[in-house]
Amino acid sequence: MAQSIDAPGDPAAASRGISRRTQSDIYRAGISGTRPRVPVDVDALESAARKALSAEAFAYIAGGAGAERTVAANRAAFARWQVWPRPLRDVSSRDLSIDFLGVRRPTPLILAPLGVMELAHADADLAVARAAASLGVPYTLSNQASFAMEEVRDASSRSSLSASGAPAGSRLFQLYWSASDELNASLLRRAEASGCEAIVVTLDTHLLGWRTRDLDLAYLPFTRAMGIAQYTSDPVFQQLVRERARASTGSAADAAPPVRVTPRAVAAGVRIARKGAALTGSSSMRENLRSPLPRAAVETFLEVFSTPALTWDDLAKARQWTSLPLILKGIVHPDDAIRALDAGVDGIWISNHGGRQIDQSVPTLDVLPTIAERVAGRVPIVFDSGVRQGSDAFIALALGATAVALGRPYAYGLAIAGEAGAAEVIRNVLAELDITLGLAGLTSIADVDRHALREA
Ligand SMILES: Cc1cc2nc3c(=O)[nH]c(=O)nc-3n(C[C@H](O)[C@H](O)[C@H](O)COP(=O)(O)O)c2cc1C
Repeated sequence: MAQSIDAPGDPAAASRGISRRTQSDIYRAGISGTRPRVPVDVDALESAARKALSAEAFAYIAGGAGAERTVAANRAAFARWQVWPRPLRDVSSRDLSIDFLGVRRPTPLILAPLGVMELAHADADLAVARAAASLGVPYTLSNQASFAMEEVRDASSRSSLSASGAPAGSRLFQLYWSASDELNASLLRRAEASGCEAIVVTLDTHLLGWRTRDLDLAYLPFTRAMGIAQYTSDPVFQQLVRERARASTGSAADAAPPVRVTPRAVAAGVRIARKGAALTGSSSMRENLRSPLPRAAVETFLEVFSTPALTWDDLAKARQWTSLPLILKGIVHPDDAIRALDAGVDGIWISNHGGRQIDQSVPTLDVLPTIAERVAGRVPIVFDSGVRQGSDAFIALALGATAVALGRPYAYGLAIAGEAGAAEVIRNVLAELDITLGLAGLTSIADVDRHALREA
């Protein structure tokens, strides 16, 4: 007969912050022999995700540009800073909250936009949005998401992890500036209407990076209609697709070169047809396979995605398209940070896209202090690229970041255990940040500055 054994409780867990609660939950489960399904250790997390994912999906998520020297440099930059331990300062109550875009947020963490999360889990952005909402962490929804922003809005008010039914989670929308201004304007209108709090314009992907792993696997998810849900759900994009399909009907000159018929090609064709339902309005696979629209959608996307012709002058147009705050993502050079201020943006997001664009690029942490000094608090600074754990977030905050964005780790959690997995990763980062704050002798994020660090 199964016996019920009461593990010792932790009376202080509830009142001593997210770190004590998390440790308590993990160690209590350990008494019954249960270890965390989502590893806490960052390397073990990546290995577990690798096992959970197809070779193509793991390559797309983990990979970087060229020889992936920027990916490594982003991590190595953190090793150049050390945190001073400062005991005997009564840190029994600690406050992780920050002001960001005029709102008090419970933590300084936000989720970076990651496209094509259906590679990690079928619930993709819906699961991530719920996980973020359950922990009060704003979610930056990607322009390359797998679900339309309106569906993500609906999901983020229904976190299955939040006991109290959290309010609709805070969301930002990330735009890839497409070659069609009508489409850009339409996406921003929808972002505003669906309750996003700000627009993040990503600037560093005007050309797709030279992604060695993806090239060697000959794998780009967008060519299989993955990660284009914001487009296929958009009325302006739908019109572009219809025009394209009409123009190419019967025109041999416009036909794409034939693809060799293999089982993989057939599977890709079926997927493209299934995704095409958003355009055909039909749930019949036969009809979607026959319709020219699903294939035209992929082709239209590949044509309009991003534009290398974009300049600083173009950015002014975004002000006409939306009244939401504008944040520029992909700033690395301090001169560009100042240029962004001159352009009147509401925030800058320091990022090298997690080393996915330029091999041997400047690691973001190395430029954070200079940019923070030059920006001098005039606008908030979001920081990403290489953040893996709470102590990394602490270092970035100490060097001048207002908020810190988490990227690949939450995708790994999502791959391993869906919504709960993504939430566990976010929780673990917050728990370690809370502990680092206390052990550094500080009680609030507002007190975290350069004095907390020593240069190694
Ligand atoms: C799989 C994947 C997809 C991404 N998709 C987008 C995207 O759609 N839009 C965007 O602005 N950045 C995108 N990024 C970049 C992230 O927002 C962020 O800058 C990067 O992940 C930070 O690096 P890290 O994950 O190594 O910390 C993507 C990154 C990864 C790993």
